[in-house]
Amino acid sequence: MERLYLKNYRNIKEEDLAFNPTLNLFIGKNAQGKTNLLESIYLMGTGSSHRTKSDQDLIDWDADYFFLKASIIKRTREMTFSYGYNKSKKEIKIDNNPLQKIGDLMGYINVVLFSPEDLQMVKGSPAFRRRFLNLEISQVNPYYYHNLQKYNQVVRQRNLLLKEIRANYAERKKKRDLLSVWDQQLVDLGSRLIKKRLEVIERLDILARLTHRKITDGRENLKMEYKSVLGAIEEQTSREEIEIIFAERLKEDVDNEINRGSTLYGPHLDDIELFINEVNVRQFGSQGQQRTTALALKISELEFMKSEIGEYPILLLDDVFSELDSLRKSHLLEVIRDKIQTFITSTDADAVNEIQSKYNLYSVTEGQVELSKGSD
Ligand SMILES: Nc1ncnc2c1ncn2[C@@H]1O[C@H](COP(=O)(O)OP(=O)(O)OP(=O)(O)O)[C@@H](O)[C@H]1O
Ligand SMILES: [Mg+2]
Repeated sequence: MERLYLKNYRNIKEEDLAFNPTLNLFIGKNAQGKTNLLESIYLMGTGSSHRTKSDQDLIDWDADYFFLKASIIKRTREMTFSYGYNKSKKEIKIDNNPLQKIGDLMGYINVVLFSPEDLQMVKGSPAFRRRFLNLEISQVNPYYYHNLQKYNQVVRQRNLLLKEIRANYAERKKKRDLLSVWDQQLVDLGSRLIKKRLEVIERLDILARLTHRKITDGRENLKMEYKSVLGAIEEQTSREEIEIIFAERLKEDVDNEINRGSTLYGPHLDDIELFINEVNVRQFGSQGQQRTTALALKISELEFMKSEIGEYPILLLDDVFSELDSLRKSHLLEVIRDKIQTFITSTDADAVNEIQSKYNLYSVTEGQVELSKGSD
């Protein structure tokens, strides 16, 4: 990203920033606006904030709209992206042309965010890992994103119908026929999502293992496995086979689903399992192992995107750099050095000192961002 203009974005009143093509450091005390700034870059890339679902939260409390405009150079051509929201209306434009749907924003400015909460990808509930995977694939594959939106809608509709059937015994038979219409869509879309996830996990698994091995001097072997609530699904399972298994499960367990009023099978409930030397990291990994795993996953994400779209995404490191020990830090630096545009926030200027010769250093104070050292 070459430039970013922000107006009334959270506590940032107005800034027009020109970035370093490699490294940008934002230093400031707590609650000054560092994460807000990274969040705005993330928003321009993914169309949603990582911290809130509501655009309303992003408007400066003293204002009634916010506006962001970013410019990037994509294969030697300059492109501009703008994102504006005023209490009733959102407007997103690429090169001044309004977009019909937010999904169309995906795939231009690719971003990878690494923040302390990412430890949850390893330690937390399956929802964190599904989110990681969905976001990762959606950024490089708009078709996946599209299917995912449709799938989620089908799950919502189907859940409503299951509850209706539960409530209305007399019409049970008639409504059950309706259910099979949703089942077909669920199975069709769901099997596509699962198949794509299997393909991507296979790639991420290799990339993450390589990184993890390097950071641990070859002592640890990381493994990622897709774990479906459908049961027996493996890398080589074809989409047709997934469809059959999926439909079968729905048939077997329909009474249970009606009782619970909820769809109990499908990719919206699947998970990724992580092992180090065959031992489950979530259950048995040490803190250090869990951190290294999170870092390896993030680096695999960068490499995966590079191989998919031909260039590295923007890397946003929110508050994590100073937390890493020297071995992990130096490994990360080796990966990003001079080839990945990186934005780092920290409260401590010393923690990020001397990391490379060319960088922009900004100080962030009460929503004001000031360039205090620049080189290019
Ligand atoms: N919509 C908003 N309007 C105005 N201020 C906001 C809005 N949303 C959040 N803030 C404020 O912005 C301030 C800065 O938040 P931010 O998360 O960017 O801090 P930070 O510099 O990353 O701090 P830390 O080092 O603690 O992570 C917070 O005090 C928060 O209350
Ligand atoms: Mg912060």
